[in-house]
Amino acid sequence: MSTITVNLTVNGKPVSEEVEPRLLLIHMLREKLNITAPPIGCETSHCGPCTVDLDGKSVKSCTILAVQANGGDVTTIEGMVGADGALSALQEGFAEEHGLQCGFCTPGMIMRAHRLLQEIPDPSDAEIRAGLSGNLCRCTGYQNIVKAVRYAANKMNTQQEAAE
Ligand code: FES
Ligand code: FES
Repeated sequence: MSTITVNLTVNGKPVSEEVEPRLLLIHMLREKLNITAPPIGCETSHCGPCTVDLDGKSVKSCTILAVQANGGDVTTIEGMVGADGALSALQEGFAEEHGLQCGFCTPGMIMRAHRLLQEIPDPSDAEIRAGLSGNLCRCTGYQNIVKAVRYAANKMNTQQEAAE
């Protein structure tokens, strides 16, 4: 089968791969680029752990072809850690508020919450639940996930106020 060159920026680094036109973005990330934290669940856009940030939008990477992302800027959970290794406010929130159990949904939950907090910096609990409604968790009952996002929002807003 013929291949197409896909150029991306992934977690701040430029990458270029020859891929088959049918290759999904999640498979390019995991199999070509060895970025394996975003897991594959349903592969039909229903469950959400494969969620990444693409050009400022939350995208289920099992639902988009790698060639459709060509030229794009992708952030995965691996890109949420600071250069000094410090956890992001969201990662810290999930740890502090016990927002995970098995952890399967967590990479997608955090990436969706990351975009949600750009869209709504101080969301209500209802807005957090609505914002994460495309991401399923079979373990936690969601209560602590909402608390984790609230933790991150509070921390980020406090830091923002201190910087002003
Ligand atoms: S693996 Fe289920 S939405 Fe992508
Ligand atoms: S922590 Fe297990 S699926 Fe969410």
